[in-house]
Amino acid sequence: MRLREATIILIGAALWTSSSARAADADAGRRIAERWCAACHVVSSEQTTGMEGAPPFSELAARIDFRSRPLADVLSGPHPVMPNMQLGRTDAADLTAYIQSQRR
Ligand code: HEC
Repeated sequence: MRLREATIILIGAALWTSSSARAADADAGRRIAERWCAACHVVSSEQTTGMEGAPPFSELAARIDFRSRPLADVLSGPHPVMPNMQLGRTDAADLTAYIQSQRR
């Protein structure tokens, strides 16, 4: 019985990990954006003000083709100083999905 439970938990964990690696999660991306980007960018239609000069995410979504310019590259390029953050691959994918969802 114990072994069976452990096996079920392991399978569950494996499924969860593989599904989170497959599909980018825009909701998770939104949480990252609110924490790390909202100080400067308008990250959602509910946010009213951002820093002058920082384009709203709705505009970035329309302007940037993230397939040819991955977000991680954009952020490691000439982007204004950002709080020290580590953007993992899953985070970058989630954040990209979220930015794209803001396209109007
Ligand atoms: C300290 C303020 C600040 C923070 C925090 C910040 N940005 Fe920016 N960002 C800017 C400004 C200002 C610009 C416009 C100037 C520029 O393009 O260099 C910009 C430009 C961008 C661009 C367009 C770059 C290009 O080459 O066109 C992207 C994409 C972007 N930011 C994404 C993000 C994401 C995602 C986050 C959160 C992880 C973030 N930014 C956090 C200020 C900020």
